[in-house]
Amino acid sequence: MTPDNPLKAAYDHATRYISEVAQRQVGSRMPRADLLAALGGPLPIAGTDPVDVINHLATSADPGIIATIGPRYFGFVTGGAVPVTVAADWLVSSWDQNACLYVTSPAASVMEDIVSGWIVELLGLPATAGVGFVTGCHMANFTCLAAARHEVLRRAGWNVETQGLQRAPKVRVLVGGEVHVSAVGALRYLGFGSDELEFVPVDGQGRMRAEDLRAQLGDSASPIIVCAQAGNVSTGASDPIAEIVLMAHARGAWVHVDGAFGLWAAAVPELRPQVRGIEGADSWATDAHKWLNVPYDSGLAIVADTAPLRAAMSMKASYLQRGDDEERIGMDWAPESSRRARVVPLYALFRALGREGLAALVRRNCALARRIAQRLAAAPGVTILNDVVLNQVLVQFKDDATTKDVIARVQADGTCWAGGALWQGQQAMRIAVSNWSTTEDDIDRSADAMLACYTQATELKLATLDGEEPDPPAARRSYRSLTR
Ligand SMILES: Cc1ncc(COP(=O)(O)O)c(C=O)c1O
Repeated sequence: MTPDNPLKAAYDHATRYISEVAQRQVGSRMPRADLLAALGGPLPIAGTDPVDVINHLATSADPGIIATIGPRYFGFVTGGAVPVTVAADWLVSSWDQNACLYVTSPAASVMEDIVSGWIVELLGLPATAGVGFVTGCHMANFTCLAAARHEVLRRAGWNVETQGLQRAPKVRVLVGGEVHVSAVGALRYLGFGSDELEFVPVDGQGRMRAEDLRAQLGDSASPIIVCAQAGNVSTGASDPIAEIVLMAHARGAWVHVDGAFGLWAAAVPELRPQVRGIEGADSWATDAHKWLNVPYDSGLAIVADTAPLRAAMSMKASYLQRGDDEERIGMDWAPESSRRARVVPLYALFRALGREGLAALVRRNCALARRIAQRLAAAPGVTILNDVVLNQVLVQFKDDATTKDVIARVQADGTCWAGGALWQGQQAMRIAVSNWSTTEDDIDRSADAMLACYTQATELKLATLDGEEPDPPAARRSYRSLTR
């Protein structure tokens, strides 16, 4: 039956999508030109019935929707969306609150206070710490590093917010050789060019070498920011944060931790040693839309001492009504003023899962990452390039060219989706297990599909070497068919 209003139509499309997502082809099903044709056309002169708009939108966009919320999407580090958080997100749009001031949304303001407390407790960070609710880890890095810039310059007698950066004392910024591009980008926005960064050598897992940091810190009197990492985007390995904090603080430096997904190791007792000493840092950037499985977009900028953050972020104007100090002003904690109440899905997540449910989610994903690594490593010629300490797996299928071929075949096959990257000079397939709904069966199906693609890629290569015309890629043959 045709729904009689657009909300009902959207509800039907959304719930059908969510209930069927595990069965979908994971990747795109339509080339760009066809998508453009399906969705495009001239700007309408007259309007269309809202229900028809929603039906057309849902149907036409569908082939270009990637099943990132499904259980076999292993690209980038993406996470899914726990249904209760999607439901809460519907409320966010329905309420359409502006989370910039207390007076524009007392409920959002109070939830930000509550969820800040829960996050700090969950991660075992200092009780003084405060949280800014931003769009993602990139903006969380920016927000935290703005606070860092404020504070290290304040200690040098300089107010960067009023005096600017151009004549300020030089700030040294030290980062690991495997720093994520996001931190480099955030530093760029803050006036620190990428050529000005001091790169500290890393080990084979991408971890900053603490002894090299000690040597590079030296004894110059400059203000210093050290940017550490919890969870390398390829290997999942974390820097030796306890040592970094000790050395950097001895030099009066600010320690920022970029932990888009890796920071959540702190919430799982047996994984916490990987981020030992994390509570001693000055700021932490992380995502909720990755491992916490809330819908895009959701990032968290956390600072131990909230004064520098608020000094860096806050703006005042007579019409921007403020109440007493107890009433949280969202725009004091984040770079935006008008802002979606993106705390709401987080609030729902913490209520629905609790501390134990969240730890179980992270723990389960790590076990599944080990499972797929073991399945793949058992095949001849397959090498796991990283120590699988968290949820990230780097796989090489025989050599660089075969690995690229396998990635392309896996993406076209549609059982699962994984991307590629160079890891310390070697081509790897990246598998990030970060979805709440992934099961052992999904892992096994995905491993089978990847190995079948490997078989096809290798057979094609052998046939080409023999001068034979290769067969078209066989569908889903097991790896054994190659080795028998
Ligand atoms: C370590 C790290 N920092 C920052 C980011 C950027 O996060 P976002 O894309 O959510 O802004 C990522 C993304 O994968 C990351 O892995």
